[in-house]
Amino acid sequence: MSFQKTMEKNSILLTIVTLIVVSIGGIVEIAPLFYLESTIEKVKGMRPYSPLELAGRNIYIREGCYTCHSQMIRPFRDEAERYGHYSLAAESMYDHPFQWGSKRTGPDLARVGGRYSDEWHVAHMKEPQSVVPESVMPPYAFLASKPLAMDDAAAHLKALRITGVPYTDEMIANAQADLTVQAEADGDYDDLLARYPKAQTRDFDGNPNMLSEMDALIAYLQMLGTLVDFADYDPTADYR
Ligand code: HEC
Repeated sequence: MSFQKTMEKNSILLTIVTLIVVSIGGIVEIAPLFYLESTIEKVKGMRPYSPLELAGRNIYIREGCYTCHSQMIRPFRDEAERYGHYSLAAESMYDHPFQWGSKRTGPDLARVGGRYSDEWHVAHMKEPQSVVPESVMPPYAFLASKPLAMDDAAAHLKALRITGVPYTDEMIANAQADLTVQAEADGDYDDLLARYPKAQTRDFDGNPNMLSEMDALIAYLQMLGTLVDFADYDPTADYR
């Protein structure tokens, strides 16, 4: 009997041989991604999240904002004209887990940073319909009155370092201080800015008396898409 006939008549053998063939193909395709340096093209400007931005990101995930918002601008003209330069892989290289999302009930947020004022965000979060009457986004007013509970900022940074985010010992040692100073109305931001270039520093929620979850969320929203300067982004350059 020919090889083909044997295979066609013996389903178990066929399953085993199919599995072997598919595994070889899989290994050849997937294995190189784990050691090729160029899997993610490096880009100037990317840095790990500051502790406050990270706290905001955690709230974003906790509240399920990703169920209605994507953070992934696709390389199509209509998207680029509405949202800006298409998202680069490197822009989510420090995201664990990434927030690309899979559904857009609301707009993509990958470059929402700097698009609106803090006041707009506060009003929008408290009652979306107060600024966008036809909005179907639910309100998150409670964030403004909820103190930011994150007394384990250093542990968050450490955990992310295990996944490969380049937090330094210095960043981890100062995590708690960096967390609070970033949202102070008139703080001493120099050390924070040295560690996290381009970090935005101010009281984000309009209430300087309390570090709220709203402060953290708006700090996060306002930095989205602002790290890479596309005026000097050269896709052919080698930033390694
Ligand atoms: C049920 C779906 C839904 C959820 C959940 C949701 N949103 Fe929205 N969001 C929308 C819609 C629809 C809009 C467009 C109308 C508007 O601006 O309110 C929007 C708009 C926005 C905008 C303005 C974007 C722009 O470019 O104009 C921001 C910022 C935003 N949402 C942030 C968030 C955050 C942060 C969360 C989680 C705390 C969240 N949204 C949860 C539906 C949602």
